[in-house]
Amino acid sequence: QHPGWPARLGPVRVAAGEVSLRPVRLRDAAAWSRTRLRDREHLERWEPTGRGAWEARNHVSNWPSLWSSLKAEARRGAMIPLVIEVDGAFAGQLTIGNIVRGALRSAWIGYWVTKDLGGGGVATAALALGLDHCFGQVGLHRVEATVRPENLASQAVLRNVGFREEGLLRRYLDVDGAWRDHLLVGMTVEEVVGTVLDRLIREGRAALP
Ligand code: ACO
Repeated sequence: QHPGWPARLGPVRVAAGEVSLRPVRLRDAAAWSRTRLRDREHLERWEPTGRGAWEARNHVSNWPSLWSSLKAEARRGAMIPLVIEVDGAFAGQLTIGNIVRGALRSAWIGYWVTKDLGGGGVATAALALGLDHCFGQVGLHRVEATVRPENLASQAVLRNVGFREEGLLRRYLDVDGAWRDHLLVGMTVEEVVGTVLDRLIREGRAALP
């Protein structure tokens, strides 16, 4: 175990319902696969290129090996792989990855939320909970995220929690079948006044249940 793992974060109330985060579980297989097969169009454009067809990669039988590699990374302190729940039901994933200690004390954060909950404030609340965890228990100094310039919804989410734009990374990630430019955004702990969640609550974007 390492600081901040395993973690249960939230709940916090937004328009879509009560948002909380918890570690990935082996028994997430069915919900994970069902949502990802249903939401292919919503997800595929923004995700790393995978080997093989979407249907095969997101088949229920693929979850156990994915789950076990996520858990292995978490055990060695490099990752915090969480499921986003809304009103207790599977609603997506939030992952904190490439956790580096030493003089850098940094990580990246990424997320996806099911299409049916779109615009309900779920990603914004989940990201706030994840960031506060990074700067709190995990003890990081900096968190970064990368987002395609075409992904306006995700950019809005990042902006709304206080990320600052740092630059454009050209042909940075192999996403949806090609090398894609990505905007780099970052946040350091000094930029957070109180907590990120406090800010959302002050702005009326979230409330404590
Ligand atoms: N153009 C501009 N803004 C938009 C658009 C659009 N087409 N669609 C939605 N938005 C805005 C909304 O208005 C809202 O901003 P506001 O609160 O200022 O009005 C914001 O985007 C959405 O906020 P939430 O409701 O908190 O987000 P949601 O729960 O709908 O999830 C997400 C957003 C994560 C991008 C979801 O659509 C998704 O999973 N998409 C596919 C996967 C993906 O793109 N993941 C992110 C990859 S980048 C990364 O991980 C750092």
